[in-house]
Parts: sequence; C-alpha cells; structure tokens
Amino acid sequence: MASLEQTRQLVTEIPGPKSLELDKRRTSAVSAGVGVTLPVYVARAGGGIVEDVDGNRLIDLGSGIAVTTIGNSAPRVVDAVREQVAEFTHTCFMVTPYQSYVAVAEELNRITPGSGEKRSVLFNSGAEAVENSVKIARSYTRKTAVAAFDHAYHGRTNMAMALTAKSMPYKSGFGPFAPEIYRAPMSYPYRDGLLDKDLATDGELAAARAISVLDKQIGAANLAAVIIEPIQGEGGFIVPAEGFLPALVDWCRKNNVVFIADEVQSGFARTGAMFACEHEGIEPDLICTAKGIAGGLPLSAVTGRAEIMDAPHVSGLGGTFGGNPVACAAALASIATIENDGLIERAQQIERLITDVLLRMQAGDDRIGDVRGRGAMIAVELVKSGTSEPDAELTNKLATAAGAAGVIVLTCGMYGNIVRLLPPLTISDELLTEGLEVLRLLLADL
Ligand SMILES: Cc1ncc(COP(=O)(O)O)c(C=O)c1O
Repeated sequence: MASLEQTRQLVTEIPGPKSLELDKRRTSAVSAGVGVTLPVYVARAGGGIVEDVDGNRLIDLGSGIAVTTIGNSAPRVVDAVREQVAEFTHTCFMVTPYQSYVAVAEELNRITPGSGEKRSVLFNSGAEAVENSVKIARSYTRKTAVAAFDHAYHGRTNMAMALTAKSMPYKSGFGPFAPEIYRAPMSYPYRDGLLDKDLATDGELAAARAISVLDKQIGAANLAAVIIEPIQGEGGFIVPAEGFLPALVDWCRKNNVVFIADEVQSGFARTGAMFACEHEGIEPDLICTAKGIAGGLPLSAVTGRAEIMDAPHVSGLGGTFGGNPVACAAALASIATIENDGLIERAQQIERLITDVLLRMQAGDDRIGDVRGRGAMIAVELVKSGTSEPDAELTNKLATAAGAAGVIVLTCGMYGNIVRLLPPLTISDELLTEGLEVLRLLLADL
C-alpha cells in the first residue's frame, strides 16, 4: 500500500459526496442509537492523518477516542496481526489456550504500576474489564457496595452505566441500573476552585470530602471497591488535585476496600507515562485497561495484585472472545512499539507543544476557562465570556467547524463544554501545529 501523505487536504466539502451516499445507507441500515461525530467515511489512516473515501485528508486529533495511540496500522501491529491471522484466529483460551494470551498477561503484569506479584485476565472492551474488576473485588472482599465518582465514565453495559455519572446520552431511559453503586465527589480543580481555593489545590482536602461520603453514606464494612479514572476521560480530562489519589488509596488500604484504577482511556503512554497512576506514584490494587492496548484491535484487561485476582472461583471469569489471539499479537506489538519508539517521551513533547499553544490562546480569550490534562490527553474547557458558565453551544460549533476544515476533534464533559485533544503519538509536530492553528482561527471567528 502506498504510504499515506501526511498533509491536510480537502478536495470536496466535508462530508464529500461518497461519504454522504454511505451515510444515507447508514441511516437505513444501522440503529439510530449509534451516534456519529463526523460522517466522513474512512478509507485509510496512519501517522496523524485520516483519509476519507472522497480523497480528503483530515488531521487526526482524536485517535478513534484514544485508541490508536501508536498510530493507525502501526507497522509492528500490521506484521504481527498478519502472521497470527494466518496461523489461527480463535480457539477460545478457556478451551485450548495459546502462548500469546499468557505473554500479554506477563507484559501487563510487568508494565503496570506496583511491584508485587500480579495476575491479569483479558476481555474485549473497556466496559467488560470494568464489570469484571468489580466481580473480582466483590469476590475478594465478600462485600457488595462500589463507589464511583462525579463525572465518571466507565462504559455502557449495565453495571458500567450505573458507575457512569452522566445521564444523557449514556443512561437515560436504559435503567434500572445495577444496585449497590454509590457516588462520591471528585476533585475537579477548576470548578472546585470557583467555590473554594483550598479545595482546588489541596488534594487531601478534596479526598477528605470524598472519604466522608464513603465512610458515612456507605460504610467501609460494606464497600468492596472504589473505582476511579486517575485522569477522567469523558468527564472532561479532569486531573485531580495533587494528593487526592494517594489519600484515597491510603484510606482503601486501611479499610480493606479494593482500589480500582480505570485506565481505559489514560493508559499506554497516552499521558506521558505508561499509566496515569504513575504521575501520582500510586499503586492501584486492580487496573482496567483497553483502548490503546492493542493498536486498534479490540482487547481489554484487568491486572492486579495476585491475591485479589486469584480470589474468584475457577471459571468465574472469562468469555468466548476474551484475549483473542489476533488481538493478543497486536497488543504485544503495541507494547513493543511504545517501548522501542520512545512514545512515552513523545507524549511528553506533545503535551509541551499543545499546552504552549493553548495557554497562549487562553491569555487572549476569556472563553477558555481552563486548559488541563497530561501528555497527549489535553482539554480546553469553554465558558461564556467573562464567566465560568459552561458553553456547550460554542464547543459544538467549534468541533463542527473543525471537522469541516479537516481537523477531527472530540468534545466531552458533564456540561458538554470541553474540547479534548487526543492525537496519535505518531503525528508530526507540523500537523499538530497546523491542527491547533485551525482551531485557534475558528475559535477567534466564532
Ligand atoms: C475510562 C473509561 N472506562 C471505560 C470505558 C469503556 O470502554 P469501552 O467503550 O471499550 O467499553 C471508556 C470508554 O471511553 C473509558 O474512557
């Protein structure tokens, strides 16, 4: 296949005629329940570019929601997948196992935070990993309650929906939800700071507020697990105040509560560390991973302390496709790519490049309430001029205009007022700078 030129190029309106034709077929064939951000139908993708069926080349600042962190069709992944698919495609690990599943578990045990003995189990999606982490925690502690946080997103299956905070579009009309799920206040420095400056900077204070809810409204004696994204994804790339996560971990350890880090979005070099927990020096009991794990193939995992992971009875965990051999081959190639190509350092460079541009934009535009995030996971919180009131309308207009100009960006946040940037780590500085410049000009025009 000819290499994909790394330049933005628009040869038709966005979406172009072929995309529009395909989109007509979509509406009569695909459930209306599946939303589409930008109905541009993809022909090829790689580096920092997505090329559509009309020949338009768009700058990718979304990575398919933080999945293609090592780039689309990354060479090692392509080779590994080709080789594996020609050997065998499936046997079911629970029936006749294979080496690559074991190797992925070994790699996850090696690269996740925590030095003690660990075990892993593989699934297909982030939500499935989350559901199983709760099963494992309940099995280990013999307790039932689970606490999640404000602004949390953990997926779309029944328990994951219950753990997720936002009603529309994730939960509305889909209940009843799994019982014994409770919600604690998150540390959200930007919005906390509007009410109380100390709460914004003192993570231990923010943790004390959350721990009071865990203690008084649920009770440690009933609480099996606390699940948290160390940097919240769909909630708006909220980085908790320093000290918040360590204080929660401490409380969990003292109270026999399993601390689960959901690193589905923040994992695998995305934040400038292999896992976001490393920025706070915490060691979760269990860690859920997916998205960036396998270069775009569907795979997820729960990894954690051996005594917790080994608590469920034999055959209590599993699934037909979990740890599919093709996805496992891709995961091994992805981890090798991150480590051999210096992608953690690349995420740190991207952080500097993006935040430098965004902070300069913020200095001249009071609609940019906050710039935050780590690595190649950076967000801008947009507010109504001169206030801290969320501006979802401006956010949607900006994302739509960016798409039309050939730059793919995603929005998120409880109030829908956050533009999030998740470029693949293979994007060039030139493309990234160009994408940011497009956003700057569009925002100035709106
Ligand atoms: C933090 C987090 N957890 C869980 C999920 C669910 O993952 P999946 O969509 O693979 O089920 C997501 C997806 O966006 C996520 O960001």
